[in-house]
Amino acid sequence: MSLHRLTQVVMGVPDVERTAAYYREFGLTPGAEPAPTAPRSRPSPVLSTVDGGEQLRIVHSARRRLVELGVGADHPDDLDRVASALMRLGVPIERTPTAVSAVDLGTEVLVRVEIAPRYEQRPARLPAYNVPGVDGRLQERAPGILREGPVRPRKLGHVVLGSTDHEASQRFFEQGIGFKVSDSVKDQGAFMRCSSDHHNVLVHQAPVAFLHHTSWQVDDVDEIGRGATAMLAADPDRHTWGLGRHYIGSNFFWYLKDPAGNFSEYYSDLDCIVDDALWKPGVFEGVQSLYAWGPPMPPSFLAPDDLAALMTGAHSPQG
Ligand SMILES: [Fe+2]
Repeated sequence: MSLHRLTQVVMGVPDVERTAAYYREFGLTPGAEPAPTAPRSRPSPVLSTVDGGEQLRIVHSARRRLVELGVGADHPDDLDRVASALMRLGVPIERTPTAVSAVDLGTEVLVRVEIAPRYEQRPARLPAYNVPGVDGRLQERAPGILREGPVRPRKLGHVVLGSTDHEASQRFFEQGIGFKVSDSVKDQGAFMRCSSDHHNVLVHQAPVAFLHHTSWQVDDVDEIGRGATAMLAADPDRHTWGLGRHYIGSNFFWYLKDPAGNFSEYYSDLDCIVDDALWKPGVFEGVQSLYAWGPPMPPSFLAPDDLAALMTGAHSPQG
């Protein structure tokens, strides 16, 4: 596959500093602030994951939204292919020697495909479990209880975007950028990948374009529990949904809410698709298709509390 990962997201929020502080607490590492482009331009903090480097930039926006999504490609030829595919769809593009960018109208996100190195992930130490008939861990306590220090997300895994036209957004990502559909929810949206991860982008139908969540990979389910527990100890109102296991994608999840209203997910053990021929995409229906087990999904998960406010502000000139 010529596309191989998400590179970076640029998140627009009304309160940049508060949101940046949240993601530092979430476990991302602050990076060097880029030099301001103009003398009085606003700060735009950059935060890093362990394996993906600078993967989150936060900029000012009157309403919360995903401003930009970066997708890594191997070679300039890949950019040529993306550029011509987008042009065939009638999508205006901007091309530089190292990137091609275009806006998906349904999600209002600028997608930037750029030449980027592939991930080289240091393998996590597999926890040994005691299961019936197999004593995998003898004479020692489980590593999950002994870990200390903050949870550090390994990489940006996926983003979920509300689209005012999910079919057009799917066309943009699938036929234009080159994502593959892993699974879909009937008449609602599609889980798409640009890597071996089950999904890197999910677009779903919504009354307004908005960022539903960003999702960050951690080593295992213990790290999800440790990370969410620490975040909730500092502010219980951040709790959104978890701990659970998704059905589509299979990953363990726990969702929290940042100060701007975006959800952020710790995840582990997502399905991995390396041979397209051996994966059969499914079409699912209903809420149960979203999770195998976990607490009941709160209504505010699918329709966030600020959706009406986002709709009112959707056409704000600063948005
Ligand atoms: Fe997710």
